[in-house]
Amino acid sequence: MGNGYHYDAVERDRLMAQADLFGGADLRRLQAALGVPATALEVGCGPGGFAARVRHTWGVPRVEGLEAHAATADRAAPLIDAVHRRDALDDDPLPGAALMYARLVARHVPDVTRLVARMVDACAPDGHVLLIDADDATLLLHPAAEAFERARRATHARARAGGADPFVGRRLPALLRAAGLVDVDGFALTLTSFERPRAAFAAMLRPYTLTENNGLPADACAAAQAALETDVRDFSWTMFHVWGRKPAAAASR
Ligand SMILES: C[S@@+](CC[C@H](N)C(=O)[O-])C[C@H]1O[C@@H](n2cnc3c(N)ncnc32)[C@H](O)[C@@H]1O
Repeated sequence: MGNGYHYDAVERDRLMAQADLFGGADLRRLQAALGVPATALEVGCGPGGFAARVRHTWGVPRVEGLEAHAATADRAAPLIDAVHRRDALDDDPLPGAALMYARLVARHVPDVTRLVARMVDACAPDGHVLLIDADDATLLLHPAAEAFERARRATHARARAGGADPFVGRRLPALLRAAGLVDVDGFALTLTSFERPRAAFAAMLRPYTLTENNGLPADACAAAQAALETDVRDFSWTMFHVWGRKPAAAASR
């Protein structure tokens, strides 16, 4: 099973490291805003690092994941309460929970409107749907590194050709309102190379430099990664955390 997301062992480790991008500040703010839901389902849970933090740092007593990539679902399984090995856009309803959330998934799917509608359908009445995602217009690098910018443009072109939107972050509130949610609210957190050494930032941006994602030849990919590691001095990247409540009386669609 797979969905086109490029995986290798390095990518799984990268995602595990990225699960704690904000040192717990994201989870503390989510807990303050949303309380502690009884159950949560992470759509596109990857290797499970963030879901494990929802379980243990946020304190949600039951956290399940849903993941289409089989070997990655296997890595998540021991970390959380259950993993559903399937595609979130297939024809069966999603498993339900009081909190339905997706982190860095909206930017990858070919039909984000459908994904959100399915999450809202599966959400318990009065529960919340939460989207956590970035907007690549907020990925700021200085000095500009042309080899990396070429790889970034090629990655975006490929993603868009597949229907995905690397600039989805700005649309998260609109997507939730259009899906019928109320009390839409959120916050943004910015990660910079003041908090994270630039080598770690460069490692975080590895997916842009892979042929599988950008279609560029190996030498251009190597140049893109080297440019990140040696030319760029300062980095900044913003993640949006946006949620809405499903009205208790919402008619099922
Ligand atoms: C960037 S990773 C994020 C993983 C995790 N949410 C995190 O924050 O670490 C995106 C994940 O979404 C999964 N994914 C993408 N589209 C999916 C779909 N249609 N159904 C299920 N999983 C999907 C990918 O396989 C991948 O594991």
